Amino acid sequence: MAGSREQFGSKLGFILAAAGSAVGIGNLVGFPVGAAKNGGGAFLLMYAIFVAFICLPVMLAEMSVGRNSQKDPLGALTSLSGGNRGWRIAGWLSIVTPFMIAVFYSVITVWIFGYLFESVTGNLDLLAQPETFGSFITGSSIFAYMAGVLAIVYFILQGGVKQGIEKAAKILMPALFIMLVGLVIFVLTRDNAMAGVEFYLVPDFEKIDAAVVNGALSQAFFSLSLGMGIMITYGSYIDKKADIPGSAKLVALTDTAVAFTAGLMILPAIFSFNPNINTEELSESSISMIFSFLPQIFLELQTSIGYFGASLVASIFFLLVFFAAITSLVSIFEVPVAALMSEKNMDRKPALLTCGVLLIALSVMCALSFGFVQFFTSFISYAGSEKSFFDLVYDVFYDTILPLNGFLICIFVIYRWKKTNFNAELDSGAPAFKKSLFERYVNFSVGTFIPVILLVIFINTVAQKYFGMALIG
Ligand code: PHE
Repeated sequence: MAGSREQFGSKLGFILAAAGSAVGIGNLVGFPVGAAKNGGGAFLLMYAIFVAFICLPVMLAEMSVGRNSQKDPLGALTSLSGGNRGWRIAGWLSIVTPFMIAVFYSVITVWIFGYLFESVTGNLDLLAQPETFGSFITGSSIFAYMAGVLAIVYFILQGGVKQGIEKAAKILMPALFIMLVGLVIFVLTRDNAMAGVEFYLVPDFEKIDAAVVNGALSQAFFSLSLGMGIMITYGSYIDKKADIPGSAKLVALTDTAVAFTAGLMILPAIFSFNPNINTEELSESSISMIFSFLPQIFLELQTSIGYFGASLVASIFFLLVFFAAITSLVSIFEVPVAALMSEKNMDRKPALLTCGVLLIALSVMCALSFGFVQFFTSFISYAGSEKSFFDLVYDVFYDTILPLNGFLICIFVIYRWKKTNFNAELDSGAPAFKKSLFERYVNFSVGTFIPVILLVIFINTVAQKYFGMALIG
């Protein structure tokens, strides 16, 4: 391997990089729409509780394993378990999972990049037409956009931890915050914006059922980039003096604050730019909503601020989502790259190229899943419905394996690596954490009910997704 392990240059750099990973498309669009549809303020409250009491302890577990082992997830689980075969398999799972999530996440990032390009070049009217999304994702121009996105990810990651990941986070994250706050102010000062705020925030406890609870927890877990080996990998790039509990709290807070703030942008925008909104339309799936619904909303602005103004607002929005997506993509792609570097003693560039070639092959298969090629479009069928290759990757890795990985890391930390080692790692750099109430809570929860909840979610998802049987909700 090339030299000693790289490290983040500062605490702020680490926090921004981890927050950059956590803040993604899910925060900016998935969360606001999910919250508005599922009980408003009631959903928000539940989400915040899940972040603080379930997800934060898992994040602490992941970061501690990373920092203690100074390795990628595979190396970490292998070395801390003393070479145990079962844990090595779990280690493999936490390398393959992020790689496969990177595959489908890169396809969505490519679409965002394409929409950004089109709005900047004056084609917002085209984007707002209902048939555009369908033809866009089956048009050959997406391969040009894919080349662009992968070139940017390659450019950032070839710079390494400090000069690449950290530097990019230090530029992109503040830019993201500024654009987000700017758009929120713009949107909230428009007519009728308050109707959207109301739709977003007024609690409706009636809507909270088992499926909504499950959905809120899954959303919080994914949103904090857990179960993907990312926090293990980023944790391995910090030194013993870094305060893990303090940093993790800030990451969770930033992620939740961005998700919450995004709601103050998206819903008032929908209500204000298009007062005749049919709230049924909001029940569309969150990802396709960015592409098929929001451009129409932005175009409505032309009556008040002209076509140029409307295009400018749309461009800032897509740039914001693009920055959020790129920092997430970089973090997830770093996991297999870091694993190849330390497990196979490769240098960064060859490791990056190896993963890159594989990623391109699989991403192209995903991109061809939308009607381009029949074989990938109708790839498989389960629980009575036909699924494309993209759907398969999404269902298996994003929906199913993530809670399983979360379960495994909890069990690993408390029962294999052991509580005393976990605590010693948490306390190093954070002496005030030692014997605190929160430390006791983390110890107890990671060893008991958190893995149980994650296992139940995993089993329920398997039953529901692949066998068509809903156990919960
Ligand atoms: N936290 C990300 C989001 O909310 C999820 C994610 C992270 C996805 C890293 C891919 C890679 O969108």
